[in-house]
Amino acid sequence: APTAAVIPAAGRGVRLGPGAPKALRALGGTPMLIHAVRAMAASRAVSLVVVVAPPDGAPEVKSLLDAHALPDRTDFLVVPGGESRQESVKLGLDALPPGYDIVLVHDAARPLVPVDTVDAVIEAVRDGAPAVVPALPLADTVKQVEPAGAPGEPEPVVATPDRSLLRAVQTPQGFDRATLVRAHETVKDDVTDDASMVEQLGLTVVTVPGHEEAFKVTRPLDLVLAEAVLARRRL
Ligand code: CTP
Ligand code: MG
Repeated sequence: APTAAVIPAAGRGVRLGPGAPKALRALGGTPMLIHAVRAMAASRAVSLVVVVAPPDGAPEVKSLLDAHALPDRTDFLVVPGGESRQESVKLGLDALPPGYDIVLVHDAARPLVPVDTVDAVIEAVRDGAPAVVPALPLADTVKQVEPAGAPGEPEPVVATPDRSLLRAVQTPQGFDRATLVRAHETVKDDVTDDASMVEQLGLTVVTVPGHEEAFKVTRPLDLVLAEAVLARRRL
């Protein structure tokens, strides 16, 4: 089944601190977004990448992609994004041509995901799962709290969920296209990932093993780690 990847890259990157939009920041001298596009194009199954650019940055992103070679088998499209990640993904889906039956949604902010993880997600969708997420066990114990009034105030702990039942999920998340389109048309609540919209349709989402190197570049320390991972790969 022809497979496309939608890459939401329209965020500002507030938690990373001041500077260019996060997806356009350099990692090893190359914009993070280019690493993320190459990570999707590395899978032989992926023949189209739809990049969702910052709302006023589509021409800049288009020239960036023109300047960085992709495999011959991979086409790309650039569309402007929206206010929220959810809206940006929807705009990417709206631009998807017919014929792509499997859709990956991959954060530009996860530039270093290995191709084996991408292929494992696609494989599970091919095997019939409507939605697939790469997932890892948690290292930290997680507490549910009563949120404090002001930042930095102590917060009462309400519960400690059994860590062995929890997973941290990554991208690319893989979908049967029709299911993902229906989810984005039906679910209007704010969500932080695409699979949770499919859960809200009452369908079963399954996990495949995630990878440490698929971590999301969110805060400044994550950039330090990303640079180190890249340097190790280049040895
Ligand atoms: N994203 C998007 N459109 C938005 C917001 C986010 O396409 N309106 C994308 C980001 O570019 C990123 C992915 O969604 O690739 C994951 O979001 P996140 O890590 O939260 O990135 P930002 O929203 O840019 O960062 P922050 O929340 O710190 O501002
Ligand atoms: Mg965000």
